[in-house]
Order: sequence, then C-alpha cells, then structure tokens
Amino acid sequence: MTTPNPPALDSLRELETDALAQLTAAADEAGVEEWRVSFLGRKGRLTGVLRSLKDLEDADRRTVGAAANQTKLRLEEALEAREGSMRAAQAAERAGSRIDVTLPARPLQAGSLHPVTIARRRAERAFRDMGFDVVEGPEVEWDHYNFDRLRIPKDHPARDMWDTIWVDADDAERDRRMLLRTHTSPMQIRYMETHEPPIRVVVPGTCYRYEAVDATHEWMMTQIEGLVIDEGISFAHLKGTLESFVRRFFGQELETRFRCDYFPFVEPGAELAVRWQGRWLELLGCGMVHPEIIEAAGWDPDRYTGFAFGMGVERFAMSLWGIDDIRHFYQNDLRFLSQFRGAQGAR
Ligand code: FA5
Repeated sequence: MTTPNPPALDSLRELETDALAQLTAAADEAGVEEWRVSFLGRKGRLTGVLRSLKDLEDADRRTVGAAANQTKLRLEEALEAREGSMRAAQAAERAGSRIDVTLPARPLQAGSLHPVTIARRRAERAFRDMGFDVVEGPEVEWDHYNFDRLRIPKDHPARDMWDTIWVDADDAERDRRMLLRTHTSPMQIRYMETHEPPIRVVVPGTCYRYEAVDATHEWMMTQIEGLVIDEGISFAHLKGTLESFVRRFFGQELETRFRCDYFPFVEPGAELAVRWQGRWLELLGCGMVHPEIIEAAGWDPDRYTGFAFGMGVERFAMSLWGIDDIRHFYQNDLRFLSQFRGAQGAR
C-alpha cells in the first residue's frame, strides 16, 4: 500500500498560504494580474504542480491531485473576490464625491407622447365614445386594395390624386404591385371582406405620399379612416357624425364647411373644413360609400348604404394647438415636442 506523498501535500499548503498572502498584498489591477499569471497561468506554480502529477504513483496522484484541485478552486475564488472588491472600490471612488445621500430625491425627466400620438388617441377616444370600433391595417399594401378595389384601376387618371411610393418595380407580367399605402381607405375593403353590416369602425394609421413638403403637406402623415354601413344610412348621418366628432375633439363648437369633392369610391363626395384662426383648414375627405363597392362586398346596395371619411390627424393637431407648420412634427426638435408634455390626453 502506498502512502500519500507528504512532501507534495506540504508544498501545496505552502504554495496556497504564499499565494493568498501575495494576493492580499497586490496593490492594483496590474499586481493582481501578475499574481494570476504567476500562480494560475499556464506556466504558473500551481499549474506546475498539476503537471507533475503524472510522475506520481497512482494513489499519490489521486490524493495530491484532489488537494491541488481544491487549492486551485480556493485561489480562483480568492481572485474573484479580490477583483470584485477592487471594482467596488473604484466605483465608490468615482461616485463618492458626487453622491450626497442626505439630499431629497430628484425625479428623472421622463419622456412624453408625441403630439400626433396625443391627437390620434384623443380622436380614437371620441370615436369610441360614439360607438365605433378601432382597428389597424397594413402600411405596406397591394395596389389592388389601395386603388383597384376602390374603383381606381390601373391607368385611371384618379391615381394621380395620390402620388405613390412604390415598394416594388413596375412589371407588366404581374397584376399586383406593392406600395406604401397612400391613404387608410384600403382598410375599408379589407374590413368589408371579413365583417358583415352593421359596420361602424375607424382605422388610424400612417400613410405615405411621394409629395413635395410644405407648411400643410408632409410625405408621411397619419390618417383616420371611418366606415359606417347599415340599413338606412344617409348623408345626414355623415354630417351629424362628423360635426359631433369635431365638437368632441376640439371641446368647443367650431364653424364647419362641407363642400363637394371627388373621390372615386364615394358618391357623392365632400370635404370638410373648419374655420380656424380666421381661415378654412381642410381636415378630411368623405362621402357616401359607392353602391358598386357595397355590391362588390356581396351586399344589396338597395338595402345597405354607408358613409366613409378619411381625416388628417396632423391637420387636426395643427388646429387644436395653433401650429402653423406641419414640418414641426417630424423634425425631432425637443424644444417643440416638450411643449406637449402636459397636453390633455398625454398620459
Ligand atoms: C384621401 O386620402 C381619401 N382616402 C379620404 C376619403 C376617405 C375620402 C373616405 C372619402 C371617403 P385626401 O387625399 O384628400 O383623401 O386626404 C384626406 C386628408 O388627409 C386631407 O383632408 C388632409 O387632412 C390629410 N392629408 C392628405 N395629404 C396630406 C399630406 N400630404 N400631409 C398632411 N395631411 C394630408
């Protein structure tokens, strides 16, 4: 029977005591790193002991090997603890002179909702209160829904009303092209495909147009589409609904003006403007849903009628807060945006 190798165990104990003392004495990060290399590195003292295990008898190798592994673990733990306490000391040193725990807490300056989001939510709330559902639809759309199904076939001059940002190239072979929706009206068709009358829904969302930017036109803007279909719906319902909405949104009675307008998917069509700061501001397009669209949805146009509208949320926000240029909204100027922090509906 072989006995454990006392000299090897003794020298391991000695190595550990020595290593722990030197680690405590290491003055800084460089000293600690030097210590790591000299004890735990590839050519370090402990690694040397582990390497020499192969020269021992089997039984000795097991005993000394186990002891060496224990030493290695203890040294690694000691190293980790030493590095942790050095990091903590450095952090405390960095912060030490600036933290005064006796001072009262200061709240962080929180961000706030974008004014267009505030206006959009305010409009959605008004419509919800009036019994509308709120749904969203895709921003990348097929020309089929954005145009064709809205009675604007390829090569129809009405397509020029919406300067379009196309996502894929024109390809005579294909009958469908992808675009960034120019308005929220394609959701009228999508909604009719999956729902039955009575329908009362609004669809808020971002739209894109290949359009020159000026004080009242942006190339990216937010619309809210509205669609109502039921038996006996008339233009009077359209007028009453929109006037009620304007009252709820602005919180006051405003002078409104309906004028004839043309949109291929409604008949008759109109635009609604409000008088604001002495001038008329066009807020939305609207009209009675074209009977052909009702028929294409599979319903009898003699029985079901409806109205639709599409409003520009930025225009409503401009009127609400007296903003004279639509370009302020998307320039990310915090001096402008932070003014809406306390606006009603901002939380
Ligand atoms: C439309 O987009 C129709 N889809 C609206 C509609 C829906 C008519 C349902 C009938 C039935 P129009 O292009 O006029 O129409 O845009 C509607 C509203 O969006 C405008 O009244 C305006 O408030 C806003 N708008 C349009 N273009 C811009 C733009 N470039 N920048 C900011 N707001 C815009």
